[in-house]
Amino acid sequence: MEFLRNTWYAALWAQDLEPRQLLARKFLDEPVVLYRKPDGAVAALRDVCPHRHAPLHLGTVRDDGSLQCGYHGLVFDATGACVRNPHGSGRIPPQACTRSYPVVEKHSLIWIWMGDREADPSLIPDFSMLDEDSGYQISRRDWLLMEANYELITDNLLDLSHTAFLHVGILGSEETIKADLSMEQEGDQLKVNRLVSNCPVPGFFDMMYKRNEQMVDLWADMRWDPPGCMINDTGVTDPGAPRTQGTGIYGTHFLTPETDRTTYYLFAAARQNPISWGEPLDTEIQEKVADLRRYAFEHQDQVMIRGQQRVMDELPPDEQPVLLEIDTGPTRYRRILSKLMRAERTAAAAE
Ligand code: FES
Ligand SMILES: [Fe+2]
Repeated sequence: MEFLRNTWYAALWAQDLEPRQLLARKFLDEPVVLYRKPDGAVAALRDVCPHRHAPLHLGTVRDDGSLQCGYHGLVFDATGACVRNPHGSGRIPPQACTRSYPVVEKHSLIWIWMGDREADPSLIPDFSMLDEDSGYQISRRDWLLMEANYELITDNLLDLSHTAFLHVGILGSEETIKADLSMEQEGDQLKVNRLVSNCPVPGFFDMMYKRNEQMVDLWADMRWDPPGCMINDTGVTDPGAPRTQGTGIYGTHFLTPETDRTTYYLFAAARQNPISWGEPLDTEIQEKVADLRRYAFEHQDQVMIRGQQRVMDELPPDEQPVLLEIDTGPTRYRRILSKLMRAERTAAAAE
C-alpha cells in the first residue's frame, strides 16, 4: 500500500521511552528501532544491522549515545553510520550503515519522518495543549494497536454520527442523531463540525458537567491534519448558552500506520473548562475520562472497524461504498490525502 512519507507521524508518547531503552516498532511497513541516549535525546534507525541483519533493538545503548549491535558488536551512531568494528583490523566496509530517521520530541510525543525529503519540524501540527506546562489537565496518554487500515479509523473520526449508535449511552443516543454539520478547509487542514441542540446529555459529558442528566447543546468539532492527526473540541453547555459556560475536552487522536492492516492509535484528552467537584471525585472523573475513551475506542470502534476491514478485504475491488450526507468529512479528507500522495509520487518521479 502507498503511504504518505514526507510528513510527521506520531511514533509514541515521549513518556514511553526511557533513557537507554531500545524500542522496536514498525512504521509504514519498515522496521524501526527508537532509542533514547543517556542525555535524553531520541534517535531512530532502521532496525536492521547491515552485518547479518540482526535486529538492532536487541543491542545496547552505550554511554556516548551510540548503539551497539547485540550480535557481533558493530557500533552505530545516531545517523546510522558504523563507527566501530571490534573485529580483525577494525576496517569498516562503506556499506556497513543503516538508515536513520529524523525524530522530534514535541507536545509530549515523539514524531518521526519516514520520507527522504528534508524534515521540517515547523510542519508538526499544533497540539500545544498536550505540553507538560500547558496548564491543562491531561488524561492518561494511552495507545492501542488497531487491526485496521488507518484510513478506516480516520473515516470513523471524521464522521461522529456513529456515536449515536456505536457509543449509545456513553457519547450519544437516538436523540443526538440529528445534527447541524459544517465543514471548513484551510490549506490541507480540515475541520468537520457537528452541533446537536437541546438533547439529553450523553453519559460521558454528564459525568463532567451538571451530573443531573439535563438537556444540553452538544458540540464536536474535529480538526484533521494529514495524514492522521486529529483533535476533537467537544463539550456540552446549557441549551442556547455560550460554550464557555459549558465543559468538555480536547480529545486528541494520532493514527500512524504500522502496516496497511494495522495502526498505532495514540490518544489523550485535555479538559476544557473543567468543573471541580472536589476530591476524590475530580480524580475519579479524570480517570473515568481516560477509561471511557479507551473503552469506546477498543471495545466499540475497534470491533466495528476490524469487522469492516475483514469484510472489505473479501469484496471485489470495484465494489464502492454508498455515500450519505454524513460522509462529507471522510470524502473531503480522502481527497486531500490523494492530492498529497499524488504530489509526492510526482516529486519522486522527477528526482
Ligand atoms: S549482525 Fe550486527 S554485528 Fe553482526
Ligand atoms: Fe467512535
